[in-house]
Amino acid sequence: MTTDNGVSLEARGLTRVYRRGSEEIHALDGVSLTIKRGEFVSFMGPSGSGKTTLINLLGCLENPSTGELELAGRSIFGGGKILGERVLTRIRREVFGYIFQNFYLIPTLTVRENVALPLAFYKKPGVEGEVERLLGMLGMDHRMNHLPGQISGGEMQRVAIARALVNRPEILLADEPTGNLDSKRSGEIGEVLQDLNRNAGLTIVMVTHNPGLARLGGRLIEMRDGQAYEC
Ligand SMILES: Nc1ncnc2c1ncn2[C@@H]1O[C@H](COP(=O)(O)OP(=O)(O)O)[C@@H](O)[C@H]1O
Ligand SMILES: [Mg+2]
Repeated sequence: MTTDNGVSLEARGLTRVYRRGSEEIHALDGVSLTIKRGEFVSFMGPSGSGKTTLINLLGCLENPSTGELELAGRSIFGGGKILGERVLTRIRREVFGYIFQNFYLIPTLTVRENVALPLAFYKKPGVEGEVERLLGMLGMDHRMNHLPGQISGGEMQRVAIARALVNRPEILLADEPTGNLDSKRSGEIGEVLQDLNRNAGLTIVMVTHNPGLARLGGRLIEMRDGQAYEC
């Protein structure tokens, strides 16, 4: 799924309103932005400013209240229309890799099995050997047969990264990928992400509270009260 103009994601006027009882929360208040293929974009901003809501919308995991989203020139949301769930599921599996702050590893599966899990649902042609290759690249080859409970937080995040990459996504979305890690481990994860962006051409969209990590990308966007400001 590629286009000639190099645009990966285009958001126009995205809003998202949550209702809690009679209260309306404007989590996103009109966000427009363009992310080009191969970019590494970081989002920073205070808690509650809408970062997770935005990254979930960009990743086609949630629907906006209003606004439009295009992925590689294809309309995902817009004009009151939303793609069918089957198509969305396919796009999520084939285009995106997701990394969450809490890793979400399956505790009863080994490191190797966790990384291989997405392949049970969809396997991109040519990814044979990718589980081992990624775990090797991330310095985890000696932990393949361990369970998540037997490895450190930094190692768990490496496993989550390998799992996000196993189907060779075009776009990696990472919501506070080092939120649970100390600064040394955060730096290591940062290096891995930067390397993937520079040398594998992976488009990265990352939310972080870590200024050092945010600077790794070429582009920083600040979220405030549901709006996005280019820095
Ligand atoms: N499912 C939800 N139901 C109600 N309110 C929500 C929900 N998810 C997020 N919010 C609210 O939307 C705002 C933005 O949240 P979020 O996108 O998680 O911000 P951030 O990731 O920047 O901390 C917050 O006020 C939050 O409480
Ligand atoms: Mg968040």
